[in-house]
Order: sequence, then structure tokens, then C-alpha cells
Amino acid sequence: MLTAPLTTGRSGNTPATIVLAGATGDLGYRIAQALLTRGATVRALVRPGNTKPAVTALRDLGAEIIEVDFNSVAALTKACAGATCVVSALSGLRDVIVDTQKRLLDAAVAAEVPRFIPSDYSIDYTRLPSGSNRNLDLRREFNQRLDQAPIQATSILNGMFTDLLTGQAPVVLFGLKRVLYYGSADQPLDFTTTANTAEYTAAVALDPTTPRYLRVAGEVATVRGLQKAASEATGEPFGLLRVGGLWVLGTLIKVTKTLMPASDDVFPPWQGMQYLHNMFTGLPKLTSLDNGRYPEIRWTPVHEVLATRRLEHTA
Ligand SMILES: NC(=O)c1ccc[n+]([C@@H]2O[C@H](COP(=O)([O-])OP(=O)(O)OC[C@H]3O[C@@H](n4cnc5c(N)ncnc54)[C@H](OP(=O)(O)O)[C@@H]3O)[C@@H](O)[C@H]2O)c1
Repeated sequence: MLTAPLTTGRSGNTPATIVLAGATGDLGYRIAQALLTRGATVRALVRPGNTKPAVTALRDLGAEIIEVDFNSVAALTKACAGATCVVSALSGLRDVIVDTQKRLLDAAVAAEVPRFIPSDYSIDYTRLPSGSNRNLDLRREFNQRLDQAPIQATSILNGMFTDLLTGQAPVVLFGLKRVLYYGSADQPLDFTTTANTAEYTAAVALDPTTPRYLRVAGEVATVRGLQKAASEATGEPFGLLRVGGLWVLGTLIKVTKTLMPASDDVFPPWQGMQYLHNMFTGLPKLTSLDNGRYPEIRWTPVHEVLATRRLEHTA
């Protein structure tokens, strides 16, 4: 049970104040919960007029809600005053990941906030060539700006959210009882649940001594490992389904992009395919893991996540 934040506020005897952008989102809300559990003061920045239930839920949890114009550095600077860390869990394309985060960064610097955590939470894009993943290219671009700013920054890299394996990511095919893949069934892949990523981010936000990058994986699993986890979770044997080499997936991505009309969707089908392609190449595999930095965090294994899907479907 965590009762006190790892750091205190700037005056030394008050709880640390963490400014959180994107608190109404899936990850951001859980970061807010984890920060509050650790005793921090959470200042959630929300867009004016946001009526999502998450706003009320955040307030009920004890977060301070600040409606702010994300287009105004002056307004953001005011909202950041006195904080020890700004955490971004924003999601979007260039206007959000590069432009809005840049304004938030400028505001954090202007308000003399010592630390900033960008909305990365991904596979290791630092090891990927540019052009191989649109959304990760935007993160690389923003982080180049972040590296120039007079502020201490920490990016959290966590692989793929394990939760995606129960639905969005077409890998564990529950109906067919197959694990679908391209390339090698022995390529190690990084998975971390959204909840674990949030817990870790909260710990990082309250820890003033973090390095530029922290890498975590709730579980490193190969496709064969996923097959075993799916069989264990469902009690039924799963097989493997190799569609082809990575070039096949590469071709499918090109075809899908060509056929789909251009849209502002952050996660069109081909974006998920790009993510999987990147993972199956092994390039963005996290090299050394920092899981042990906060020993109180219990990492949820893949089979536990897959079992929740089974429960949902039998309920
Ligand atoms: N590694 C993985 O597999 C994986 C999977 C999913 C997500 N992620 C990453 O996790 C992070 C958070 O994603 P999420 O799924 O939690 O996103 P989400 O649920 O879509 O939430 C996005 C948040 O950003 C806010 N936002 C969006 N555009 C904004 C703007 N222009 N100005 C101000 N706020 C804005 C939203 O606020 P409103 O309430 O006002 O809309 C919301 O709070 C992202 O970096 C995402 O890429 C990683």
C-alpha cells in the first residue's frame, strides 16, 4: 500500500503536484488514479466544455480539474505553476503530439516545472528508421524538440499494450484458436498492460532521479509464448497461423493504405499493422528493462489479460 509520494512539493512539506494532460483518456485516467494512490496532488488539464464522465470521475477521485485552452501557452503556463512534473497522456496526430505537446512543453519551461514526461508509451521508436511508423515518427520529432528544452525529460517505453491482444490487435484469434503472425514465431515481443504502464508512469512522475528513457515490459513473449498463454487462458489448445514473411505484411500495409481514404483517424487499420510489422522485425525490441525500479509494481502476465477476455465473453 502506497501512502506517501516519493517526492514532496517544492516547498518540501506538501504533496508533489503533478500536472496531467490527457487525464480523460484511457491511459491518462489510470495515471491519475495511480498518482492519487501514491498521495500526489493531481492537476488534470481538460479542454473547456469537456463533459465526459471521466471529468466527474476524476473530480470524485480527488483530482483538481483545470479547464484550459491548449492553444494558449500563457494559459497553460498558469496551469503548470508550482508543479514538480508535467505528464502528457495526450493522443492524436501532428496537431496534438507535436504542436499541442510543444505548447505544453513551453508552458512547463516558462512555469519552471523541473520535469516533463511526453506521451510516448510505445515500442522503442528510437531504434526505428523514420518513415516506418507514422505515429512514432511524430513522437521522435517531438522528442527532438524536448531534448533541446531546458527541462529534465523521461520517456516511458512499454511495448504494446497487452490489452490490445483481447480485441484490436489481430494476433490472438479466439474464434479460430490460432495465433496469427508474420516472420518468425520466435521473435521476442514486449507487452505491458495499460494499468501497469499507468502505475509505472505515476512512480516515474514522483521520482526526481529518472533517466531520459525508461523501458518496461510486463511480459516479453514470442508468438509461441502467446500460443501457450492463449491455451492456458482459455483451457483450449491454440495453433499457429503464419500468413507469410514480413514482406507480405509490408505489402498488405501498402495496399490497405492505398485503398483507405485519407483520414484523421489516429489508429486506422494500417497503423496497427505498421506497429505489428515494427514489432515482428525485432528492431524496436526493448533492450534492457527497468521493471525492477519500483518493486511494488506487480507486472500482469499476458495469460491473465487473455483470461479476462474469456470471462467477458462467458459472462
Ligand atoms: N503502446 C500501445 O500499444 C498503446 C496503445 C494505445 C495508446 N497508447 C498511447 O498512450 C497514450 C494515451 O492514449 P489513450 O489511448 O489513453 O488515448 P485516449 O483514450 O484517446 O485519450 C486521449 C486524451 O488526449 C486528450 N486530447 C486529445 N486531443 C487533444 C487536444 N487537441 N487538446 C487537448 N487534449 C486532447 C483527450 O481529451 P478529450 O477528453 O478532450 O478528448 C484525452 O484525454 C498515447 O500516447 C497513445 O499513443 C499506446
